Amino acid sequence: MKVWNAVYTGLAIAGSLSCAAAVEKKDLASEIWADIESATTCAACDAVLEILKGLADLGDAAFVDTITEICILAKAEDSDVCTGAVGLEGPIIAQSLREMTISSHTSQLFCITFLGLCPYPDVTPYNVTFPSPKPSTTRPAVSGQSPIQVVHFSDIHVDPFYETGSNYNCTKPICCRPYTPDDAPGNTSYPAGPYGNTKCDAPLSLEESMYAAIKSIAPNAALTIFTGDIVDRGVWEVNETQNLKDINDAYSRMSGLTQVYSTAGNHEASPVNAFPPTALNSSVSDQWLYNALSSNWETSIGSSAAQEELNFGAYSTKFPGGNLRVISLNTNLYYKENFWLYEKTMETDPSGQLAWLVNELQSAEDNGERVYIIGHMPMGLSDAFRDGSNYSDQIVNRYSATIAALFFGHTHQDQFQIAYSNYTDQTYQNAVEVTYIGPAMTPSSGPAAFRVYTVDPVTFGVLDITTYIANISSPDYQTDGPVWEEYYSAKAAYGPLVDPPLTDPAAELTPAFWHNVTTVFESNNDTFQQYYARKSRGWNVGSCDGTCQTSEICQLRAAAAEYNCAVIKPGISFRKRDEGLERSLGHVEENVCEGSRARPIIARLAARDGLLEDALRKARRK
Ligand SMILES: *[C@@H]1O[C@H](CO)[C@@H](O)[C@H](O)[C@H]1NC(C)=O
Ligand SMILES: *[C@@H]1O[C@H](CO)[C@@H](O)[C@H](O)[C@H]1NC(C)=O
Ligand SMILES: *[C@@H]1O[C@H](CO)[C@@H](O)[C@H](O)[C@H]1NC(C)=O
Ligand SMILES: *[C@@H]1O[C@H](CO)[C@@H](O)[C@H](O)[C@H]1NC(C)=O
Ligand SMILES: *[C@@H]1O[C@H](CO)[C@@H](O)[C@H](O)[C@H]1NC(C)=O
Ligand SMILES: *[C@@H]1O[C@H](CO)[C@@H](O)[C@H](O)[C@H]1NC(C)=O
Ligand SMILES: *[C@@H]1O[C@H](CO)[C@@H](O)[C@H](O)[C@H]1NC(C)=O
Ligand SMILES: *[C@@H]1O[C@H](CO)[C@@H](O)[C@H](O)[C@H]1NC(C)=O
Ligand SMILES: *[C@@H]1O[C@H](CO)[C@@H](O)[C@H](O)[C@H]1NC(C)=O
Ligand SMILES: *[C@@H]1O[C@H](CO)[C@@H](O)[C@H](O)[C@H]1NC(C)=O
Repeated sequence: MKVWNAVYTGLAIAGSLSCAAAVEKKDLASEIWADIESATTCAACDAVLEILKGLADLGDAAFVDTITEICILAKAEDSDVCTGAVGLEGPIIAQSLREMTISSHTSQLFCITFLGLCPYPDVTPYNVTFPSPKPSTTRPAVSGQSPIQVVHFSDIHVDPFYETGSNYNCTKPICCRPYTPDDAPGNTSYPAGPYGNTKCDAPLSLEESMYAAIKSIAPNAALTIFTGDIVDRGVWEVNETQNLKDINDAYSRMSGLTQVYSTAGNHEASPVNAFPPTALNSSVSDQWLYNALSSNWETSIGSSAAQEELNFGAYSTKFPGGNLRVISLNTNLYYKENFWLYEKTMETDPSGQLAWLVNELQSAEDNGERVYIIGHMPMGLSDAFRDGSNYSDQIVNRYSATIAALFFGHTHQDQFQIAYSNYTDQTYQNAVEVTYIGPAMTPSSGPAAFRVYTVDPVTFGVLDITTYIANISSPDYQTDGPVWEEYYSAKAAYGPLVDPPLTDPAAELTPAFWHNVTTVFESNNDTFQQYYARKSRGWNVGSCDGTCQTSEICQLRAAAAEYNCAVIKPGISFRKRDEGLERSLGHVEENVCEGSRARPIIARLAARDGLLEDALRKARRK
């Protein structure tokens, strides 16, 4: 009997079993049950992994065909979504599974990501090497000179197939497309308006409206930051040709904005999230994407940075209008849904990006430059691998006197994260850096938004943030078009509440200030609730009390993922039976910002007792 057989029978209530196997089965079941009761369900996950690995060993085609077939039969998604998502992402997942050692660091992370089982493995200790020790200099004081403006927008997710009048209430991850004749304009009781819908990605009309608003609200902006995600979330039917078109089109529409610095979102790749690190030597490569980004970015970032970007999507460039260096990172190289990263032994520094970042920051420090770091995924999220997050936070800490601020997107929400020199002693004195997370333009998680930062022209420290929104819930939105209004100013909202109050327009919103704001959130419920509502621009605001509030504040205080208080929610729940353990569906995490559809599909299928086991048996017989 093969290993997987012994293991799977421990989980499933299987039919005819030999006596020996039945004994084996029972022992494994009680072992797993003990694990479950002590909340270390790695063994249960490993049993599922053996089955998935068994399928992957039959080859990419068998893996994709089998998962697709049961996805359709089990109605885990519409059949076109099953076929598309599994067809695109399946081969990468199968490749990782074939290489994977069960019970390794890699397999534990796979278990957390796919099935919500297994506790987080400890961060593998690694000290980033720095060319010189941290100097005693600290953040420079504000210059007091007349401030400049910096625009930030993110996650535009423009859907070229959006059709006014089509069904906004469909069965797929995004709607407002005429998927079927019933969804077509004129045939549906749920016609989408011309300027977007919360169940859909953004129409072109909304994108154009936002750029026009940016030009009229901040006509003198010195620079613009776009933190990625151009392509719509119809991830089951993306391809390179269409993504290239979407990317080139969006950048040509952005060309009227001032000095745009951009970064690659996880949705820019096809398959979604698929950014192979350079060491993989994979036959699949993102060169097509890096080439396209490079040529779109060249006018803003210059030819040498555009050349550098071709390596792995990152670049470092000098802002022509002041003493600022902009470093754009490819954070997809630390994203848990980039399935290329689940290598047998996971790399400490995929594509060498961290070593490159150290070099860039060291030369910025040597040259007395200020630095903005921009990227798509904030590194303190549970979307980021804890190892990469730890190592990058070491770098942020080392160069905290040089980095003026960091800017990200991805969550679609209005948030921030604080980096500390000591995460077990989170005080305003230990707060070293602030990560600004810009809200999305796509209206699927709240009204479309962008921000204008007021910035010191010498230190590039952020003095204030004003967020603008187009209120999609306003009754005239679809008839009159988006009206862009000031939503709130961070300094006006929070400045008077910290002690001492920070209301001087020339004062910087320092890491210490943001730490003090989180202290206000702990003691002043009204202010915390206002913050919580602002995350989604007042849209669909749930209640957040008790542990919700504690974990929100914990996340704000974690620019390193291991300190963000994320709790793993089991994607599979287990019930003890005489014959063994019975599986059923637990919590399948679904984020608006996540790309993968194959992941939740696999989670749902794995939760069905016996389904994958039967499929494997059948596939082996073929
Ligand atoms: C990292 O540096 C610390 C302090 O110097 C040291 O105690 C630790 O052993 C180092 N860790 C590794 C993995 O080298
Ligand atoms: C979507 O359609 C279902 C029936 O198919 C209906 O019950 C539901 O209220 C609709 N949702 C919206 C947001 O209109
Ligand atoms: C609307 O539905 C009718 C009947 O099913 C169909 O013939 C027609 O093509 C549909 N309209 C569109 C635009 O698809
Ligand atoms: C790529 O996707 C687009 C939009 O779904 C589709 O029209 C086109 O046929 C696809 N191209 C290829 C080569 O698959
Ligand atoms: C990739 O290619 C390089 C150079 O040919 C080689 O050193 C490296 O071991 C290869 N990596 C893998 C994972 O095969
Ligand atoms: C990195 O991990 C080590 C444990 O290996 C931990 O002591 C340290 O606090 C972490 N640092 C950051 C910045 O996350
Ligand atoms: C971090 O803070 C804790 C709690 O105050 C303290 O025990 C620890 O020594 C500090 N670590 C460092 C590296 O200063
Ligand atoms: C958006 O409009 C709705 C409906 O008029 C209103 O209830 C809501 O308060 C508005 N949101 C904001 C942030 O102004
Ligand atoms: C933060 O709060 C402390 C008191 O807890 C205060 O001494 C400090 O000046 C405040 N700093 C800022 C920037 O708000
Ligand atoms: C905090 O405010 C919310 C919203 O007003 C309310 O539901 C909740 O009960 C308050 N919590 C506490 C602890 O006062």
